[in-house]
Amino acid sequence: MIEDSVLQAEWIVACASRELHEQPLQVTILGEHVVLFRTAAGVHAFRDVCVHRGATLSLGCVRDDQLVCPYHGWAYDGDGRCVHIPQLPSDQPIPTMARVQRYACIESFGFVWVNLRGAEGESSVRGAEGERPQLPGGDDAAFRHVVWGPCKVRAKPPRIIENFLDVGHLPFVHEGYLGVPTHAQIGDYRVTHGEDGVLRSGEIEMYQPDPDGTGQPRNVYYTYEILGPLQVRFIKRDPLTAQRMAIVLCVRPDDEQSSTAYGLISFDYDTGMTDEQITDFQDMIFGQDKPIVEHQRPEGLPLDLQAELSLKCDRVSIAYRKYLVERGVTFGTA
Ligand code: FES
Ligand code: CO
Repeated sequence: MIEDSVLQAEWIVACASRELHEQPLQVTILGEHVVLFRTAAGVHAFRDVCVHRGATLSLGCVRDDQLVCPYHGWAYDGDGRCVHIPQLPSDQPIPTMARVQRYACIESFGFVWVNLRGAEGESSVRGAEGERPQLPGGDDAAFRHVVWGPCKVRAKPPRIIENFLDVGHLPFVHEGYLGVPTHAQIGDYRVTHGEDGVLRSGEIEMYQPDPDGTGQPRNVYYTYEILGPLQVRFIKRDPLTAQRMAIVLCVRPDDEQSSTAYGLISFDYDTGMTDEQITDFQDMIFGQDKPIVEHQRPEGLPLDLQAELSLKCDRVSIAYRKYLVERGVTFGTA
């Protein structure tokens, strides 16, 4: 497992709910292979290694609410306890050591979340489940919510997150969609701690060539929030229509090379678009960012504020870098 005690204790997006069906699913989180599966009681996450001979449990199946190993058919219940060993004579008890490593796992907001801190033992699994994953605005009934992702990126999470918080690139990387190079200047703004404890930018005025699909360019307002080391939110407000749109970006750190991005896209107005059209558009926009973040050097986000040259308009990025220092996050930084 990748050594980062802060990220190991975070709720990390493991997959979208719609990716997890009757079959177990393997995901990689901080270098750890994790098997996800469903029972009547809900979702579960185990270390994807059978305690018998190290077989990969996600190659097995779920039967009678138990995860069955593909190699010799040992069956584990939702707590990770082995409850059936086919080779064992029926008068012999199942060894108490026959138990697979279990992680805290919860399904909410259209995603499955895993907290690797549960790896430390049964009591800490319960402790971690006590605090549920947070996704601000994710259950706001005034909004329509669309789950986006997975999108695989060969980059470290902080570079992906910072790109999402970066206002200055919009007229260039997303020319014609989220800005135009002739309107690239950005006015000053602040980043402050809200009463809710969230680091938040002031409203940033941005020129948009066609914010509502009518072909009428105008200025809209962007607000950025740092919700966690791997989770940030952007809110767009159109001053003319008062319509709001928000995206929470959640990044799963897969291994040293790759990450997987997910998002919750929310609207408080009728977009006239299907869910698929919305996720297709987000795929296209994110596809424009991908080659940039996959080729930034160094690959880790520099936390020494002198290491790269920043402008005033990079205040959100600077706030994110300082936040990572304060939280003590080391993975994916330089
Ligand atoms: Fe899993 Fe033998 S390796 S049952
Ligand atoms: Co972008």
